[in-house]
Amino acid sequence: MKTLAYLSSYKTLKNDFYEEIEKQKANIEDYAFQYDICIDRFFTESFESNDTSKPVLINIIHDYYDSVKTIIAQNPNSISRNSDFRYWILDELKRIGIDIIFLENTGEPVANKNILQKTTEIKSKIKEIPSLPHVVTKVMEVVQDDNSSAFTLSKIIAGDLGLTSKVLKIVNSAVYGFEKQITSIRQAIVVLGFTTIRGIVLSAGIFKIFSPQKNTIFDYEDFWRHCMLTAMASKHLLRLIDSPTHHDIFSIAFLHDLGKIILAQYDYDNYLNVYPQIQEQDDYRVKFRIEEEACGINHCEIAYSVLNSWNLPSVFPEVCLYHHTPQLSKDYEFACTLVYISDTIVNYVVKGKLLDTKPFEEDTLSRFNITQENLEDLYTYTTEQVEKVKDITGFFN
Ligand SMILES: [Fe+2]
Ligand SMILES: [Fe+2]
Repeated sequence: MKTLAYLSSYKTLKNDFYEEIEKQKANIEDYAFQYDICIDRFFTESFESNDTSKPVLINIIHDYYDSVKTIIAQNPNSISRNSDFRYWILDELKRIGIDIIFLENTGEPVANKNILQKTTEIKSKIKEIPSLPHVVTKVMEVVQDDNSSAFTLSKIIAGDLGLTSKVLKIVNSAVYGFEKQITSIRQAIVVLGFTTIRGIVLSAGIFKIFSPQKNTIFDYEDFWRHCMLTAMASKHLLRLIDSPTHHDIFSIAFLHDLGKIILAQYDYDNYLNVYPQIQEQDDYRVKFRIEEEACGINHCEIAYSVLNSWNLPSVFPEVCLYHHTPQLSKDYEFACTLVYISDTIVNYVVKGKLLDTKPFEEDTLSRFNITQENLEDLYTYTTEQVEKVKDITGFFN
């Protein structure tokens, strides 16, 4: 899918017009360079165009609607200074699935420096985020090693008392629903298996890094409940379609929205300003745009960078990056699709909406053997799980 750039100026003198077009082009090229975006073509609106006649833009919409993913433009005014016409164009783009990125939100010239500055700030923020506790990385390694035993794993976890009690707390919570109390890590490994324990240790480590902060409007409990429900739903969906792959889907899905908590803790000024606005939105493209305008990066991209820096297996960062757009994932489309479907259904259930299967493409569902009955089953299952994740506060202490 292509990325195009759209250039347009309202200058009435030809020289000024072309000077501004050149400036916009340079800004967009800088932006594309910073974010490693390949621009397939630059389109320039004609000198004669006015606020309600944008022939080049209309042609792009008509001719490229099925081959373009993104259009980059300098600012909303370059679409039109007439708000009715602008909203019509933006709605049209949204309807046909083209994202639009504005380098700046107003008609002010040259945001170039700010963008460069933002990128550097983001990089320094990523550096500030703590690394995964050593014991967690060790557990991840041991589980990946085919020759390791339950004994080695339990020894590593038992060496960290805080982690041991947290793991036992999670294992004994309603989420896993064991009737008998599990009292040792050894027993937990036997009952739940290596991969599940790895997921639990990872979750416990993450809970520790991102423990709730006081005086913030970010709703930690709601956030972790969403993660937990999406993880449970993804695991259930995997079971329904009886797939032999991705046994660790629970922990992969658990981390899918980690970027939100990263932004809430490491870019709080910018993120919390727009947090209520993001919460109101259902469309991920609008959420992305708000996040990018406020923080210079969206929750998927920042999680991707951080999880890569933690050296987690590549499926973890990839699912974070593509859980809203699974079709873009080259190597993990299946895992991304499982999490995408579960995330969407969890949102329906929590918001009290009925099941709507329209967002899921028929072709994708059939490629992964997911039936309409599976989706209905998943919706019912998720509804039944909501109660179980109510006590999530216990996981933090
Ligand atoms: Fe998300
Ligand atoms: Fe989510």
